[in-house]
Amino acid sequence: MLVLGIETSCDETGVAIYDSIQGLLGHELYSQAELHAKYGGVVPELASRDHIRKLIPLIKQLLAKTNIKSNEINGIAYTAGPGLIGALLVGSAVGRSLAWAWQIPAVGIHHLEGHLLASMLEPSTPSFPFLTLLVSGGHTQLIEVTAVGEYSLLGESVDDAAGEAFDKTAKLLGLDYPGGPALAKLAERGNPKNFHFTRPMTKQPGLNFSFSGLKTQVLTTWHSQKLKNEQVKADIARAFEDAVVDTLIIKCRRAIKQTGLNSLVIAGGVGANKHLRERMEQFTQQIGVELFYPRPIFCTDNGAMIAYAGALRLAKGQQEPLEFSAHPRWSLDF
Ligand code: KG4
Ligand code: ZN
Repeated sequence: MLVLGIETSCDETGVAIYDSIQGLLGHELYSQAELHAKYGGVVPELASRDHIRKLIPLIKQLLAKTNIKSNEINGIAYTAGPGLIGALLVGSAVGRSLAWAWQIPAVGIHHLEGHLLASMLEPSTPSFPFLTLLVSGGHTQLIEVTAVGEYSLLGESVDDAAGEAFDKTAKLLGLDYPGGPALAKLAERGNPKNFHFTRPMTKQPGLNFSFSGLKTQVLTTWHSQKLKNEQVKADIARAFEDAVVDTLIIKCRRAIKQTGLNSLVIAGGVGANKHLRERMEQFTQQIGVELFYPRPIFCTDNGAMIAYAGALRLAKGQQEPLEFSAHPRWSLDF
């Protein structure tokens, strides 16, 4: 079965074709980062309009590059939520309409399910059950994945998500949008010994996170510096990154102990962070747990993870009626 996947939940237009026998056949991604850069963050209305401009050409480009004809596609999967409502409606409307025109089934996918299953696109895949640390711009969650569609939430952020903390801290330090990757790049040049920030909520029991206080610590530290040069900024960025990574590791260690699971999957945009990946590798090796993560471009938003999740759901016979909807807020316990 050939499934066309469509992702438009935020500022990336992603499309992909997944074959249930041969795997991923192709994927295309268009990032709106440049469009939003001058505003310092995503402008929802501009995002929707750009998805409208880019989605159909991107699908045509994907079909041409993979040499697949539209009448060979057997199903369509589109991100139905959570995300920006206008952006979601573009992908949902295009996905549902193409499916109607081509007389094939369509299925709406939960964006986080896409992230949760993205590591399945790699050559070495985890087997169920496994623990997932989902770290994106909108969510920080520890989830026990028992099977496709069987997810239990073990803990989550009570305020800012890890990615959001990266983005907001980057903004405070005057870095350009998109902040997370820029902050990570700056942190590479930082001395880890010069500053230290707290590891929030690690002294309390439980698996919840809180990252909103970190940005305030960063801001106060930066303002209290007499010498405000690039090296000091890099040192602060490094201390911030270390605080986030340490906190995530402490909570993963706790979740592994609590569940007895021995496979850990890292998913979501922050999963692309080099330092996090290295530290997670060391940590899981030490405790004899297998670590899986998608390649960096499949950590951040993409069409491939939606096509994959769609292929699984369509194979189970799930499909949307002609009347479709999008869900800007949507719990994963569906
Ligand atoms: O999963 P994603 O693409 O979108 C959401 O579903 O939210 O995640 C985007 C988030 C942003 O907050 C971005 O700053 C962060 O992931 N991110 C990173 C890195 N690359 C992306 N954070 C830290 N280091 C990175 N290398
Ligand atoms: Zn995402």
